Amino acid sequence: MADILILNGPNLNMLGVREPEIYGSESLEDIKSRCTKKAQSLAMTIEFKQSNHEGELVEWIQKALGHIKGIIINAAAYTHTSVAIHDALKLHNIPIIEVHLSDPMTREEFRHFSYIEPLAAHVIKGRGASGYSEALEIMKNEISQ
Ligand code: DQA
Repeated sequence: MADILILNGPNLNMLGVREPEIYGSESLEDIKSRCTKKAQSLAMTIEFKQSNHEGELVEWIQKALGHIKGIIINAAAYTHTSVAIHDALKLHNIPIIEVHLSDPMTREEFRHFSYIEPLAAHVIKGRGASGYSEALEIMKNEISQ
């Protein structure tokens, strides 16, 4: 398995088409190649995945146990609803970085609470696609300590 697991939640497969005024014009494929290049420059390997299904995300988090050094996660809408993803992430004793393209705190109230945040070493929000690159840089420092 790769060093870093990058997980993306529901509707992020629609990036580029989905509310570009909020989420930007890059597709998820664009973000994946941005992450692959960034990781290469930092001498890290990544596995980049997306699912619209909560249980699939939970299973990927479980299967990664003992095989990876860090998790970067944009759980999308599940950020605000999923105790199951929170519990799965809690299995790990490795750095977790939460990423959001937009800043949920400046949006509707139902986006203000995050089930991921209490487990996250860092939260990067409102930085668009470059937030993923920043997350990889921070992760490099986290896992080099
Ligand atoms: C998001 C913010 C969430 O509130 C939303 O449900 C998403 C995307 C973001 O990247 O800004 O799907 O996680």
